[in-house]
Amino acid sequence: MNRLLLLCFALLISISSCKKDEKLSKTSTNKRGLIAKKAMVVSAREEASKIGAEILKQGGNAFDAMMATEMALAVAYPYAGNLGGGGFLIYRMADGTKGALDYREKAPLAATKDMYLDDDGNVIKDLSTVGSMAVGIPGTIAGIFEAQKRFGKLDVTTILKPVIALAKNGYYITDKQEKRIAHYDSMFRAVNGKEILYNNNLKSGDQIINTALAETLQRISKNGRDEFYKGETAKKLVEFLQAKGSIITLEDLAKYEAKWRDPISFQYDDLTITSMSPPSSGGVCLNQIMTMVEPFDLKDYGHNSLKAIQVLVEAEKRAYADRSYYLGDPDFVDIPIKTLTSEVYLHKRMENFSFKSPTPADSISHGDIVGYESDETTHYSIVDQFGNAIAVTTTLNGGYGSKLYVEELGFFLNNEMDDFSSKPGEPNYYGLIGAEANSIAPEKRMLSSMTPTIVEKDGEFYMSVGTPGGSTIITSVLQTILNIHEFELTMQEAVNAPRFHNQWLPDEIRMEPHSFDKKLIKELEALGYTINEERSPIIGIVDGILMLDDGTLEGGADKRGDDTAVGF
Ligand code: DON
Repeated sequence: MNRLLLLCFALLISISSCKKDEKLSKTSTNKRGLIAKKAMVVSAREEASKIGAEILKQGGNAFDAMMATEMALAVAYPYAGNLGGGGFLIYRMADGTKGALDYREKAPLAATKDMYLDDDGNVIKDLSTVGSMAVGIPGTIAGIFEAQKRFGKLDVTTILKPVIALAKNGYYITDKQEKRIAHYDSMFRAVNGKEILYNNNLKSGDQIINTALAETLQRISKNGRDEFYKGETAKKLVEFLQAKGSIITLEDLAKYEAKWRDPISFQYDDLTITSMSPPSSGGVCLNQIMTMVEPFDLKDYGHNSLKAIQVLVEAEKRAYADRSYYLGDPDFVDIPIKTLTSEVYLHKRMENFSFKSPTPADSISHGDIVGYESDETTHYSIVDQFGNAIAVTTTLNGGYGSKLYVEELGFFLNNEMDDFSSKPGEPNYYGLIGAEANSIAPEKRMLSSMTPTIVEKDGEFYMSVGTPGGSTIITSVLQTILNIHEFELTMQEAVNAPRFHNQWLPDEIRMEPHSFDKKLIKELEALGYTINEERSPIIGIVDGILMLDDGTLEGGADKRGDDTAVGF
């Protein structure tokens, strides 16, 4: 009898695992990422994922793990992990309630619309990207404290303890990190006027101990978020910044608040997709692109096929053209979100699309809306053992931000001011064009492309996903969701798959080099598309978590970085 039961059980298991694989496409090699039963953290560094998972094991939830993971990234991944930057959180609680937190940087009170222009009205090179004038008021500490205070379970000292230990005891440089640090070596020296912690010809395997950061985190752990915005840390930060010529004051820091926002939510087939609302363009653009492509049979065309690429690229162009004109900080500009994301408007936008030839970028521009309605980054995904899920993207903007390093406090400062449109029509670092909606004003938040996203299927949690990559963030998140939903790849395959990108201007398809078939590229060129394989060695570093049919979690940690999934 027992043997019979065992046999039945084995049969059931094999049927259910067959079922799981049946859903994968021919493109799939059936390779899955890490599988965990209860909970998972996927981030840009193994140390950060481990610390996040450790906090979950101690009984913390996703919001406690968020604080730990974000700060551990600030220690071990200073390229983008930060105290001196900002970010966005999308959450879905176990009971299905969802929300968004905006902890984006703000322009200083003394900021002006033309602050990056010379007397002739030309953009002053590097002023918005390098050094003290590029820095926006950091939002990260306010963000992680706001999220943890509202939803967390543990006390802050318990959460920050392993992070402080990481800063104090050190972490090891990876191969990829060695290359990044070497690339920025001379810039660190030039911007800071002296050697900094990361200027020591660091090699893979070398240990970094950041005592100054350990002390900063210790004070924050003891005194809370106000330590950063009003306490000794605030004073040291402002003193440092002003000595470097910054316009940031203590009042700027004291006035900073993270803001709860209504996220963007929309349907695509049987999926409900929830992503970041303005001041990020991520959710609106993702909604626009997915609604524009929904009527096309992408699955039938095939993964990264000529027709699938054409449809996606043409929808991307139209969305990025709207982004540049309509989007900005919702506290400063009226954004016609309802119209911009309506099916009627979006299907009309695609009316002039043809498989025969590209729609030229200069014939696209932003869509017409009659009358306004009254209406270098890192991503981590966490699912906790209670069924809560979060998607968080955080950034200093460029790699190591403004390159300005506050030695006494142990962290880099952002260059997020460059995400504003310094001058209408003038591209920023990511080649993005902006207009009045994203012009600079005191206390305004600069427009972002960050797209932390949670996907539900049949009302249940399905996926948490996001990525760095500046303007390519939106299209990388888009492709990852479609890779799973339309092209039936595993989470790990979906994040590793080659990516392409179009952002309206420049009028070209950016493709990851050596990743796409030469014949496919020739076919696209023959149709009239310009292909650029030089611009981006990689497009995005996507991290995600997928809920499988059997209720286990699959982590997707992008092979392009040192990203690691840790679960239990
Ligand atoms: O908010 C934004 O859209 C940019 N500051 C993101 C920068 C970024 O992703 C850099 N990573 N490669």
